[in-house]
Amino acid sequence: EIRALTVAIDGPAAAGKGTVAKAVAAHFGFAHLDTGLLYRAVAAKTLTGMDPETAARGLAPADLEDPTLRNPDVAQEASKVAVIPAVRAALVRFQRSFATRAGGAVLDGRDIGTVICPDAPVKLFVTASPEVRAQRRFAELTGKGIEVTYESVLEDVHQRDLRDMSRDQAPLKPADDAKQIDTTEMAIEDAIAAAVALVEAKQAERS
Ligand code: CDP
Ligand code: CDP
Repeated sequence: EIRALTVAIDGPAAAGKGTVAKAVAAHFGFAHLDTGLLYRAVAAKTLTGMDPETAARGLAPADLEDPTLRNPDVAQEASKVAVIPAVRAALVRFQRSFATRAGGAVLDGRDIGTVICPDAPVKLFVTASPEVRAQRRFAELTGKGIEVTYESVLEDVHQRDLRDMSRDQAPLKPADDAKQIDTTEMAIEDAIAAAVALVEAKQAERS
């Protein structure tokens, strides 16, 4: 199958990775994995007192359905457990097997193009200014009835960006061959169109 391929999408918090990933997957009929959910699901368990490595090793599909995973306190805890090498190691195999499924896959996260799928034919690094990202996440959370202030969301974004970029293992950074998309002043539709065009170009190159 020439059309099926792996698309790796990375970037900082609330840059639009998930939205672009979901749309690209739907467009091409590929499967989509939000890898941040894995770290959030581990975090939800450690917040109840479980050991992080035990939580990561025992992760089950049902754990990803927990409606509290979107909460800001879980996001903060996720970036803390994501620093632990044994936690990251426990999640690698699932992500790689998802990425190499026959029908094509789109994965979004922090280390997809650099660590999980370094051979992915299409890599995107989606960014936007911290203020714009915080504004979008604030609107999203408020829309879901989660009570937050803009200032607290901006602080969460700053802290997680810093922790994600400065950790030793799998730090957040663009892969050398990633195409950067800055969505600060770009409508989400344009970001999706750019991503779709990139996949189509790679498909044409391969056929
Ligand atoms: O997955 P990630 O955390 O990078 O971000 P997201 O959940 O896809 O996007 C965060 C929020 O920003 C969502 O509500 C998107 O609809 C919104 N967004 C936007 O309004 N304009 C963009 N260019 C990108 C994202
Ligand atoms: O949606 P948002 O971008 O705000 O966060 P997320 O993608 O759900 O990720 C939550 C946290 O998990 C991040 O701040 C990272 O610390 C961690 N993460 C990671 O280390 N590696 C990944 N591939 C995905 C997420």
